[in-house]
Amino acid sequence: RLVNGTRTFSLEAQEGSSELVPGLQTPTWGFNGPMLGPTLRAQAGERVAVDVANNLPEPTTVHWHGMHLPAAMDGGPHQPVAPDSTWKPSWQIDQPAATLWYHPHPHGNTEEHVYRGLAGMFILDDPLSQSLSLPQNYGLDDIPVIVQDKRLARDGSLITDSQGNELGMLGTTILANGVAGAVQQVETTLVRLRLLNGSTARTYDFGFDDNRGFAQIASDSGLLREPHETTRVRLSPGERAEIVVALEPGEDTLLTSYPPDLGGVAAPSAFGSADRLDILKLQAAPQLQPSSPLPARLAEFGIPESEAGVTRTFEVQDRQINGRSMDMDRIDTEVALGATEIWEVTNTHGVPHNWHVHDVQFEVLDIDGAEPPPELQGRKDTIYLEPEHTYRLIMRFEDYADPDSPYMYHCHLLLHEDQGLMGQFVVT
Ligand code: C2O
Ligand code: CU
Repeated sequence: RLVNGTRTFSLEAQEGSSELVPGLQTPTWGFNGPMLGPTLRAQAGERVAVDVANNLPEPTTVHWHGMHLPAAMDGGPHQPVAPDSTWKPSWQIDQPAATLWYHPHPHGNTEEHVYRGLAGMFILDDPLSQSLSLPQNYGLDDIPVIVQDKRLARDGSLITDSQGNELGMLGTTILANGVAGAVQQVETTLVRLRLLNGSTARTYDFGFDDNRGFAQIASDSGLLREPHETTRVRLSPGERAEIVVALEPGEDTLLTSYPPDLGGVAAPSAFGSADRLDILKLQAAPQLQPSSPLPARLAEFGIPESEAGVTRTFEVQDRQINGRSMDMDRIDTEVALGATEIWEVTNTHGVPHNWHVHDVQFEVLDIDGAEPPPELQGRKDTIYLEPEHTYRLIMRFEDYADPDSPYMYHCHLLLHEDQGLMGQFVVT
């Protein structure tokens, strides 16, 4: 609801029960329902105000993943919402159109809260994205696809123990928007899928079962410069991609995850690198409305490397960053308001990790000095770290200074985050 230029939302975290797999009831957690949460949507320039109520038996938080906002509104581990209480963050949307999401971030418990079902999409619009000839009828030719894996016991309950896998919980029941074996009817010749890897540990390599090509048009934090024609897009936990795929009348195709190349990790098959998974069937109507062709150019952006005054180095090592595990009472990094910085991030540990920074959108300058592939040339907030490669990321810290409220950077494999692979920065 839009009240005096402020878009207001209510979220209520609650316990429930869901039919994830036909005929089986699974106890789950959700916002405003038993599983996942409503898609929130707002326009650049609008103010947003959210009532976040917690009806769970334990504290949680709600973090706005990918959002540029004051640290006290960020919903990280320093903004717990106690049971039976309500937290009321508000901020102004000041960033490009993008597919963001929200999820809990309680200290040490993020993996379990997300895995039980607490997550939703937060779509941002701006005049540029709305003026482009892109599929943008929500639910018709513009479809949110939250992909998650679960492991179910025979009685339907969620198995919440990672059973010794150091990646975390890898399940083989694959859900699209909370449903296994999901089917989406398509009525137009082009359909846009907003893919969110909302899993706690698993990396996917999305494609279609008939190997058809598609256009990737956006990465985590907004549109790419131009559509990128491809047959695959790899997303690690927390990452998003918007893709546009063409269908012929009457046909169907299956969104699939091919075995992902995890990039030189030790024992990759323990981490899902051998798994091929069916996700969502697209079923085209016998007659399709013609969509407009995609524009050749999508967005202009770019932070010049010459602007950067500071370079920092981050080594991801097992459950530590630069030799330190997360400490709620320690600020690891202090950034000056208005600064442009380069963060050089290396996974020096031979297993999958990724890297997420709160508040900012970054661009990948290079990977080991080489130009990033097209899908990594957009704006991002989360990136997969292949072992022993150095990712140089450039970002600006603008608008919000607060010496008392830190933002986080961390691995978005949520068991790793919970086990300390996280640091805190303040902007002053
Ligand atoms: Cu999506 Cu710090 O989180
Ligand atoms: Cu990790």
